[in-house]
Amino acid sequence: MKGIILAGGVGTRLDPLTRVTNKHLLPVYDKPMIYYPIMTLVEAGITDIMIVSGKGHAGHFLELLRSGGDFGARFSYGVQERPGGIAEGLGLCEGFADRQPVVVVLGDNILEDSIRPAVEQFRRQARGAKIFLKAVSNPGSFGVAEIKGSHIVDIQEKPKRPKTNLAVIGVYLYDRQVWEVVKALRPSNRGELEITDVNNFYVQQGTMTYEVLAGWWGDGGESFDSLLEAGNLVAQRWRRSPPPATVQDREAEPLST
Ligand code: G1P
Repeated sequence: MKGIILAGGVGTRLDPLTRVTNKHLLPVYDKPMIYYPIMTLVEAGITDIMIVSGKGHAGHFLELLRSGGDFGARFSYGVQERPGGIAEGLGLCEGFADRQPVVVVLGDNILEDSIRPAVEQFRRQARGAKIFLKAVSNPGSFGVAEIKGSHIVDIQEKPKRPKTNLAVIGVYLYDRQVWEVVKALRPSNRGELEITDVNNFYVQQGTMTYEVLAGWWGDGGESFDSLLEAGNLVAQRWRRSPPPATVQDREAEPLST
């Protein structure tokens, strides 16, 4: 299975922080935001990862992240030329995916939980997709899942009157049908190809599965408050139990004498 991190977009909700840099490079406690989705994928055993950024800052991502060796991973890079939506960025990764299933993570999503068990379960799920839900107090800021019995029956993107408080977080597992789905998408009212339309294809096909996250989840790019909250949550958690050191951290440690 291959990993994809989508880090395009102009980050208007965080202006002026994003006027001269990309939102995914902003600090979340002691690391640039994009480090967290990378660590989520690597911890789940996904090390072949394509990172898609916008054209203004693609070089910065390359300089920061390089080959991926610091994370025990191998990175490929893609450039989304215009802010055409998350699903448009995903469409750039078809060749990279090489017909394998993919784990897609949005570059501003920070998770406490490991996705490893879900990824392992998905490897055994012959067909379809899997998403992750989290109960939130402001569902109207996200994709929102409507559930009947044990099935998702619809997902609405940023609804004015959310039917549940279950946000669809920015981690998506797809089989190889996804490339045909992306090609058939039409732009939404805001002129973008929506990831929610991709997810609703699988919902309608009856092949969408889901997990509900137990730990905290942050979308660091949603607002100034969510960026601050993400930093605070990371700091508290790291104090309780430090994350596994990246190769980069280990190299930075002083040699013991
Ligand atoms: C995107 C998706 C939305 C999802 C969210 C998670 O929204 O469109 O469905 O709930 O990511 O972070 P964005 O934050 O790009 O507006």
